[in-house]
Amino acid sequence: MLKQKRILTGDRPTGKLHLGHYVGSLENRIRLQDEYDTFIIIADVQALTTNFDQPEKLKRDVRQVTLDYLAAGIDPEKVTIFVQSLVPQIAELTIFYSMLVTVNQLEKNPTIKSEAEQYDYQEMTYGFLGYPVSQAADITFCRAHLVPVGEDQLPHIEQTRRIVRKFNNLYGEVFPVPEAKISEVPRLVGLDGKSKMSKSLNNAIYLADDEEAVGQKINKAVTDPRRIRKDDPGNPEVCTVYDYHKVFNPEEEAEIAEQCRQGTIGCVECKGILAERINSFLAPMRERRSYYQERPELIKEILISGVERARQEGEETLDRVREVMQIDYAADQDFLAR
Ligand code: TRP
Repeated sequence: MLKQKRILTGDRPTGKLHLGHYVGSLENRIRLQDEYDTFIIIADVQALTTNFDQPEKLKRDVRQVTLDYLAAGIDPEKVTIFVQSLVPQIAELTIFYSMLVTVNQLEKNPTIKSEAEQYDYQEMTYGFLGYPVSQAADITFCRAHLVPVGEDQLPHIEQTRRIVRKFNNLYGEVFPVPEAKISEVPRLVGLDGKSKMSKSLNNAIYLADDEEAVGQKINKAVTDPRRIRKDDPGNPEVCTVYDYHKVFNPEEEAEIAEQCRQGTIGCVECKGILAERINSFLAPMRERRSYYQERPELIKEILISGVERARQEGEETLDRVREVMQIDYAADQDFLAR
């Protein structure tokens, strides 16, 4: 089957992927990889916006994220996985797009604002403020239609749509106006029960965690704070462990809630069941991970062929872009002789 429509999505390589990433976006991508011609970008240049002072860490993380994708079930036969910095057409497109965006628009971007706060930036670099422009180039260099992402990315997709409309109006219809696709599953809460699962908050279960680590982390997860003894009636609605049962143990979820309310199941037992479910959920990923870990050459090949395809698509797009923008001197050498 020839897949007509394209997806572009991806991540900054800033460490290991966790269950929150899986539920929030990886699952969507894996489901859609059969239907769409899918491109996944490992956005190492974008990661420089906050990690420009740690190049060796970034390099490790590119490999880590690739391995996480493959372990999670992204099929390299179906999907083009590539590294942003290796596709120069994206950088070229970023420069052209930068003429179509005002500084004011970027300064109003709510995700930029909250990230600047999070990193305590008193002043922003040009690259940080401008990364939504380069993200627009990430999305459109392969003329993508759909962008499956988490909710925090919506302002960037909106910015991309504005740029694309402006480009198409000014120069001619080169790009489809891309749509965002947000996961229907609510964001997964962290083990602390306070905020979303996140590496920086140290409340995550990683796709790469082994059975023991999963068991230990779940044992420490926050439950109904008012439940002290095993036979106290509990309230699953305020229990983080129950939140995970809903996602990873849907068959038993209702029964467990009932037993918790009646005080007939203790937290230790309830956590044990959950750890088992999460471990069997992660088992096929562990298998795929060790398959690829034993074959570093294969990972290299996957990335090299991904980059090659991305460059080809990028060059096709940039040929059109240069033509409609009339900066096609290389193609129109007569102009230089005139
Ligand atoms: N900004 C995204 C994040 O922080 C990563 C990213 C870079 C991305 N380029 C993209 C996501 C293009 C979707 C499409 O997670």
